Parts: sequence; structure tokens; C-alpha cells
Amino acid sequence: MTAIGTPGPVSLDLAGRTALVTGAAGGIGRACALRLAAAGAVVRAVDRDAAGLDGLLDALPAGTPGGIEPHPLDLTDLAAAERAAAGSDVLVNNAGLQLVRPIEEFPPEAFHEVLTVMLEAPFRLLRGALPHMYARGWGRIVNISSVHGLRASPFKSAYVAAKHGLEGLSKTAALEGAPHGVTSNCVNPGYVRTPLVERQIADQAAAHGIPEDRVLADILLADSALKRLLEPEEVAEAVAYLCTPQASFVTGTSLALDGGWTAH
Ligand SMILES: NC(=O)c1ccc[n+]([C@@H]2O[C@H](COP(=O)([O-])OP(=O)(O)OC[C@H]3O[C@@H](n4cnc5c(N)ncnc54)[C@H](O)[C@@H]3O)[C@@H](O)[C@H]2O)c1
Repeated sequence: MTAIGTPGPVSLDLAGRTALVTGAAGGIGRACALRLAAAGAVVRAVDRDAAGLDGLLDALPAGTPGGIEPHPLDLTDLAAAERAAAGSDVLVNNAGLQLVRPIEEFPPEAFHEVLTVMLEAPFRLLRGALPHMYARGWGRIVNISSVHGLRASPFKSAYVAAKHGLEGLSKTAALEGAPHGVTSNCVNPGYVRTPLVERQIADQAAAHGIPEDRVLADILLADSALKRLLEPEEVAEAVAYLCTPQASFVTGTSLALDGGWTAH
């Protein structure tokens, strides 16, 4: 028996389903791809990092019920993104990037790239995926947003704008998809233990001359009531939950995994 307080996996059967996960080569996307494959889905793993996708394939445990199909693609090729989504039953919009600069110094071309990858590509992927979902009368759209889809922080203008836009796109998809058995939701993590964040911790510790655990508590987790990083697998479990029959009435919402950050 599972001890109280020991999280176990959500029960989910995606046999016969195809799931597209963007940004699947690393961090949260990789955990989502492995989780959905474990649930029986054939996962179309999209990323511009082809070597990272090879690594994902190698990480798939033998005997996993589903599978991984690596699909190297730069999502700034919006037409290719739309084509890649055709035939998907589950769409996880996860790929993202970050640039931290004051607005007056923020390069316009970087703002454009962030909005393209994190907002326009999800729109095009939806365009590609929805006809098949509507034809089958079932679909699950999960948008990996962020606390920054709900709250702003200084110096993250493009990221915050893209995530707030993604929240609106997700809600609109929920309203349009409802008559067709398609749900659309956001998952909103606080800081997650990914290579990106771990590098940031080491850099901040060096820059401030303080131990890494103080960087976490004093800087990154200052607004989080729970003083720890979230694990990518915990985000993947929330994505899995949103794909279960038990979550079929959950749509148009934003599931914050933020350790109490937005409770302030
Ligand atoms: N790590 C966190 O603390 C955190 C917190 C909240 C939300 N998120 C969100 O979770 C998502 C995943 O973040 P992560 O931390 O796993 O980041 P990550 O950098 O580990 O992974 C992002 C992936 O997206 C891919 N990608 C970026 N641009 C691309 C493009 N143009 N075409 C194709 N692929 C591209 C990268 O190659 C990478 O594999 C992002 O949307 C991010 O905003 C992360």
C-alpha cells in the first residue's frame, strides 16, 4: 500500500492515442513525453534539439507500453509546426525560452522569437490538431504556462506577455472545444528543477557569494510558501491528471503548482 504522503502515479490509459509534446528534448517536456508514453500513447516528440531527442529515446524504459517518435523541428517554422500536429489526440504546448532584460534594453527580435515560439506556435499547433480531435470527439490540450501566466516579474516582458497570451488562447480553445469533447487547460509551475534553473542557481550563488541553498530560499523561492523546487515529474503528473476521464469536467482553467506563490 502507498504510504500517505508518498505520491504515486495517476492512473491513465492512453493506448491508441497520439500525443504531441513540444520542447520534449529537455526538462519538463521530456518528463511529459516519458509519462505519456508510460500511459500507452505514441508520443510525437518535437524539439529543435535533435541530439536531445535521441537522448529522450534512449531514456525510454524497455517495456514502456507506448512509444516515442522523435520529430526534430524548429517551432519558428510555423507552417511545419501546424503540419506536425495533424492527427494528435493530446497536445502539450511546452517549448519555451527566457530572456531577462529591462524593456528599454529588450531586443525586439528576441521579443518576437519568444512570442513566436511560446504563443504563435501553440496557436498553429492547435490549428493542426483540432480537426482530428473534433472528428474523434475527444482531445486534451495542456499548455505549460507558468506562475508568470498569472503574475508578472520585472525584466521578463516577453515571457510574461507570451504566458498571459497563452492563458487566453487556452481558455478560448476550451470554449470552442467543449462541444467536441476537447478540454484545454494550463499548468502553472513555479520554479522547476530543470538544467536551466540549476544553472541559474549556480550562477547566482557564485555572483552573490552565498551557498546554493540560500539562492533558492532568498532569491528564487522568495514568493513561494513551500521552499523547494518542483520536479519535472510532478508537472508531468499534473499533465497526466488532466488527460484522465476524472478530469473531463476540468477545462478552461489554470492549475497552479506554485507552492503557494499566487496565494499572496
Ligand atoms: N523551469 C521552470 O522553472 C519553469 C517554470 C514555469 C514554467 N516553465 C515552462 O515550462 C516549459 C519548459 O521549460 P523547461 O524549464 O523544461 O525548459 P528547457 O529549456 O529545459 O526546455 C525547453 C525546450 O524547448 C525547446 N525549444 C526552445 N525553443 C524551441 C524552438 N524554437 N523550437 C523547438 N524547440 C524549442 C528547447 O530546445 C528545450 O528542449 C516552458 O514553456 C517554460 O516556460 C518552466
